[in-house]
Amino acid sequence: MGLHVALIGGGMVARVHLDALATHPDVTAISLAELDRAAQEAMARQYPLRRVESDYRRLLEDPTIDVVDICLPHDLHHPVGLAALEAGKHVLSEKPIALTLQEADELIAAAERAGKRYFVALNQRFLPAHAEARRLLHEGAIGRPFMATVTIIGNELERMNQPGHWKGSWERAGGGVLADTGTHAVDLMLWWFGAPDRVTCRWQRTVVEAEDKGDDTTVVVMEYSNGPLVTLAMTYAAADPWSERKRVYGTSGSLHVVSEDAEPLVVFKEGERRVMPVEHDPNWWPYSVKRGVHHFVDCLVHDWEFSVTPQDARETLRVILDAYRAAQGGHDHADWIGSDRRVSDP
Ligand SMILES: NC(=O)c1ccc[n+]([C@@H]2O[C@H](COP(=O)([O-])OP(=O)(O)OC[C@H]3O[C@@H](n4cnc5c(N)ncnc54)[C@H](O)[C@@H]3O)[C@@H](O)[C@H]2O)c1
Repeated sequence: MGLHVALIGGGMVARVHLDALATHPDVTAISLAELDRAAQEAMARQYPLRRVESDYRRLLEDPTIDVVDICLPHDLHHPVGLAALEAGKHVLSEKPIALTLQEADELIAAAERAGKRYFVALNQRFLPAHAEARRLLHEGAIGRPFMATVTIIGNELERMNQPGHWKGSWERAGGGVLADTGTHAVDLMLWWFGAPDRVTCRWQRTVVEAEDKGDDTTVVVMEYSNGPLVTLAMTYAAADPWSERKRVYGTSGSLHVVSEDAEPLVVFKEGERRVMPVEHDPNWWPYSVKRGVHHFVDCLVHDWEFSVTPQDARETLRVILDAYRAAQGGHDHADWIGSDRRVSDP
């Protein structure tokens, strides 16, 4: 089966998607819709594209295109996803699923109506260290987990500090670090531990100066009546290199995932430090994106179930919206949180 894929959006993440698509044997043609001429040219240098357009709707009209891969700012995931499904295309979308739960529900319903496959690329589930950590936790390898701490230390100041740029914008991205890379942290905790009973959050915009932007530094606490006390701490304003650490403490051991390490998964048990064997690439970000994109294509070609469903992506969005809502009492922040448009979500 040879698939023709239309990439929509040709920015930072699209370059990684393009590499993933180009290396899958069942993808035989790739086209691109991108507004920016320089970005079009950069993508065309990376791979011989079948068609390059500025207006994505021209690609949706192309009957040879089977799949649309959405690598756009968050506010465009919903309208472009709907249009692609209505045009009869399968859809792979970058995270988050959408800005609101209503939008997410509309996308899920549109895929069902169209009888098309719809997948949100929550790539961190495709990092083998994360999957193996989940397996170990579920088989009780460290006893009963009572605490988990996740830290995401990143820097997105350049894009966050541009007023009007979608990155970190309340209107276009749904918020700052939590709505963006926080999606991965929340999603992994839901995958490992299930839905929390209670979510609290504190966020600040202390370094980013652009007034239209959301949080640059955020702490979320997820509580379970029957599970660990989970703390997620994240920033987009750090001077040190990007790093992501997940540590889980259990009644008979501890488990650490440090994505940047050559040996990312370590269990501490009975006084020993045990390196757990997992497939890994310290350049873990493109590696996990590629594995996720390949999973999507494999599932299309072989008619397999996706290991991550759109409902999973909706649940992640629900917890993030709950967290922002929970922070409302503690901060005097954007009207966005108080607007009916967002808070009316169930
Ligand atoms: N999974 C991950 O780890 C990960 C990492 C980075 C980004 N992302 C996600 O990928 C998406 C894109 O992020 P990015 O950093 O690549 O953004 P980006 O700004 O670098 O790229 C977006 C591109 O879309 C283009 N664009 C905007 N409107 C368009 C339109 N109507 N038609 C065609 N092109 C249009 C822009 O010109 C830009 O080149 C976001 O959803 C983001 O959250 C995911």
